[in-house]
Amino acid sequence: MSASFGKSVLITGSSRGIGLQLVKELAKSSNRPATIIATARNPTGSVDLQELSKTYPGVHIVTLDVDSQQSISSAVEEVQSIVRNNGLNCLINNAAIGLLTDINTVTPEAMMENFQVNSVAPLFVTKAFLPLLQTAAAQSTGMGLHRAAVINMSSILGSITQNWGEGAIYKNYSYRTSKAALNMVTRCLATDLGSDGILCMSLHPGWVKTDMGGPDADLTVEESVSGLLAVLSNLTDKDHGGFKDYRGENIPW
Ligand SMILES: NC(=O)c1ccc[n+]([C@@H]2O[C@H](COP(=O)([O-])OP(=O)(O)OC[C@H]3O[C@@H](n4cnc5c(N)ncnc54)[C@H](OP(=O)(O)O)[C@@H]3O)[C@@H](O)[C@H]2O)c1
Repeated sequence: MSASFGKSVLITGSSRGIGLQLVKELAKSSNRPATIIATARNPTGSVDLQELSKTYPGVHIVTLDVDSQQSISSAVEEVQSIVRNNGLNCLINNAAIGLLTDINTVTPEAMMENFQVNSVAPLFVTKAFLPLLQTAAAQSTGMGLHRAAVINMSSILGSITQNWGEGAIYKNYSYRTSKAALNMVTRCLATDLGSDGILCMSLHPGWVKTDMGGPDADLTVEESVSGLLAVLSNLTDKDHGGFKDYRGENIPW
């Protein structure tokens, strides 16, 4: 990481996969935020996360089920007591589920479940943490992680432009539409929060070998996260309202 992360970052869904690796890489980095808040809905179930918080100072584990408003409210209170007057510099909405549904298997329940966790929850998590992001943003100028940012972990599968023609073989109704909706949440947030100096964008991590991506994916979690962190640490006002991948390439909506 070259440019600056701010004093604090919060990552949802840190129990495994990309979220856990983000916590791990950030915790090891010499140029790291002093406060890393790793949230998980069941933190005691992740031995790796527990180890990280014991090994590296400034790694705080906070319970957060993004699908529960009560859990979100409790997490905000706990995070407030950690970051105090500094506020929160960066919120990474990473937690998600990937239901597999094609035209034959899709149900209203699957659509709503994927939509709730992947599109609705990131909006309400962001709303709840907004006062802390605004506190951090008020202490700096410019745009980027040094000030305040909301990063929505999206997917190229949510790109409507890319889902056409020969490349459009992965016809997953519930997951794809949930990420397309998340992208619109990003654009609405960017419109609303830009005047506060809070950068908002969608990121695609690549196709990654995690529980969600499966063993045939293109990238190891290390490769994806190293790219994601390079992109994140160099964000400027030009990236506000954008959709990029882990190499920093723009993705069409
Ligand atoms: N892997 C890929 O190829 C790929 C590609 C494009 C985009 N993405 C996106 O990248 C992000 C991370 O994916 P991943 O591959 O790391 O997935 P993963 O290995 O399946 O991990 C998902 C994480 O989300 C958490 N989570 C799910 N529901 C939650 C809830 N209600 N509250 C809190 N946490 C919850 C899980 O926690 P538990 O352990 O408690 O279940 C887990 O930590 C997701 O947004 C995903 O859509 C992944």
